[in-house]
Amino acid sequence: MSELTAEQSELLEAAKNAASQAYAPYSKFPVGAALLDEHGVVWKGVNVENGSYGLTICAERNAVAAMATSGARKVVAIAIFAGTDEPITPCGACRQVIAEFGLDAVVVCGCRGGGVLVTSARELLPMAFTLDSE
Ligand code: THU
Repeated sequence: MSELTAEQSELLEAAKNAASQAYAPYSKFPVGAALLDEHGVVWKGVNVENGSYGLTICAERNAVAAMATSGARKVVAIAIFAGTDEPITPCGACRQVIAEFGLDAVVVCGCRGGGVLVTSARELLPMAFTLDSE
């Protein structure tokens, strides 16, 4: 159980609120994400599923897309919330997408059970692929 800063608690609360808007009729596994950009603005995302299951988009990637659409380019921190007993961490695809906009992003993982895990994009995606190594 990690101690959260006030900012991290707010972000996790925003992710929890977002989760209630998730569109997850197939998995019945609602997820909410909220991220803080370089301007101090919070962007939310939820998982949006599809009857063609593979087209599902995770909450984290929808939050990043909302941020990028605004013109912001840095994920300072991102919180993820699911109605699970233990915190969930972002899937592999979402780790790569978060890393694109902030390998140093703080990642706050929360759940209905109350436990919290605080980590970073770098820790979640060691030896990440970037085009910088060209
Ligand atoms: N999901 C997310 O939105 N974020 C994650 O980090 C893991 C999984 C969604 C995808 C799908 O709608 C549901 O959770 C079950 O996999």
